[in-house]
Amino acid sequence: MAVLPILHLTLLPLIIYQATFFASAAVVDPTLGFTLVSLDNSNLVIQKPYNVPVNQRYNFTNGVHQFWIYPTDKSFKIDSNTQPRTEIRISKHEYTSGIWQFEGYGYVPSGTSGVCIMQVFGGSSSATTSQLRVYDGSLTYYKSPHVLSQNIYNRWFRVNAIHDVDANNVKIYIDGVLKRDGVGCGAGTHYFKFGVYAQNDSSNCMESRWKDIKVFKK
Ligand SMILES: *[C@@H]1O[C@H](CO)[C@@H](O)[C@H](O)[C@H]1NC(C)=O
Ligand SMILES: *[C@@H]1O[C@H](CO)[C@@H](O)[C@H](O)[C@H]1NC(C)=O
Repeated sequence: MAVLPILHLTLLPLIIYQATFFASAAVVDPTLGFTLVSLDNSNLVIQKPYNVPVNQRYNFTNGVHQFWIYPTDKSFKIDSNTQPRTEIRISKHEYTSGIWQFEGYGYVPSGTSGVCIMQVFGGSSSATTSQLRVYDGSLTYYKSPHVLSQNIYNRWFRVNAIHDVDANNVKIYIDGVLKRDGVGCGAGTHYFKFGVYAQNDSSNCMESRWKDIKVFKK
């Protein structure tokens, strides 16, 4: 967050600020220069198998969104032939231009595999512009071998996904470290999603947890 250094200076002793500064010197703050977009519950639209109650696939406790899905689940709507999902779609912040950023802390319990946990939706050459997936303990960009982080299970990690629509570029930061900087999938109506969306070779249960979701733009 752009205001963090100021908070550190005003709210914490200088020595803690310096320790934080030196410890994170190799890590960037991807949100610098961005403006926070306001989010409330009306921006968070849950998609889940159409035939089960939401509380059988989603739990929100102590600020943590927990999503799970089974490979045999139905799609999110009766007329869709897409794979099962329980996801939150960020609504009312769809965009077709500009530079937009998603920030959130994700957690994937061991055993979850073959699943997309975060998407930049929309594109011209593909339905999506970016997908972060989990296969056998690694976080990948679409399918491996585009591995962003190994040993992703059972720990919180910060995701910053920056989508520059006009430059057709996507940058993915994991824990403040740039892991992918490459071409997007073209123009479209875009928005961010997070949760679990079954892909190939899925495990018997797929789960992700998310907290501190933020959207920024430039
Ligand atoms: C939701 O998660 C909390 C924290 O893990 C747990 O205590 C609670 O039982 C869960 N509720 C449901 C309905 O699964
Ligand atoms: C599914 O994705 C994994 C990870 O990239 C890959 O190893 C495997 O071959 C894929 N399977 C199919 C059926 O596409």
